[in-house]
Amino acid sequence: MIRILLLIIGYIIGNIETGYIFGKLNKMDIRNYGSGNAGATNTLRVLGPKAGLIVFLGDFCKSLIPCLVVRYIFRDNVSLSYMYMLYIGLGVVLGHNFPFYLGFKGGKGVASTAGIIMALDIRIAAVCLAAFIVIVAFTRYVSLASIVVMIIFIGMSHLLVKTNYGFANGSSPMEFRLLVVVIGFLSIFMHRANIKRLLSGTENKIGKKV
Ligand code: G3P
Repeated sequence: MIRILLLIIGYIIGNIETGYIFGKLNKMDIRNYGSGNAGATNTLRVLGPKAGLIVFLGDFCKSLIPCLVVRYIFRDNVSLSYMYMLYIGLGVVLGHNFPFYLGFKGGKGVASTAGIIMALDIRIAAVCLAAFIVIVAFTRYVSLASIVVMIIFIGMSHLLVKTNYGFANGSSPMEFRLLVVVIGFLSIFMHRANIKRLLSGTENKIGKKV
């Protein structure tokens, strides 16, 4: 019951679509421009770096803060606090990707998943950030960097869960592992159009005028 409640609360919070709101403040529906995505990358592409940063921080914090709050509330049971944290985080990403009042067309959940990663483990967050910066610097493909980050997130969480997050003593936390896979692959799935463009060499590079 708590799990479903956390998913629902997360979904409602995720519906605060920072990119869409920021676009509306500029008298436009951001989803009609650039890649059609309501996230930070497309906001940066269409409205510039300052707008992109604000949208990123909004989408990042809307998952980071609820995740940290949930971890704190359930701190007496460490493993459960991490698991519940993933439930509210997943809810936020679902709300962000599929906002009910925008015809279920939102973003791809990268910044919001980054907030979950940060709340989960700062070591994973640091590796993800480093990989993201290197890939974007060399390729200028934010989508490629985002996909790689999701793979790192899934891989490192699976390695670290053996001795962290209250799951020590050789326990095999299937529920935790499954949640991580769902969150990571959800974001990769949202990038399917980007993957097609990457494969055909037509993906948008960041910094290019639209
Ligand atoms: O965060 C989303 C990014 O990975 C791709 O965005 O607008 O290029 O589809 P976009």
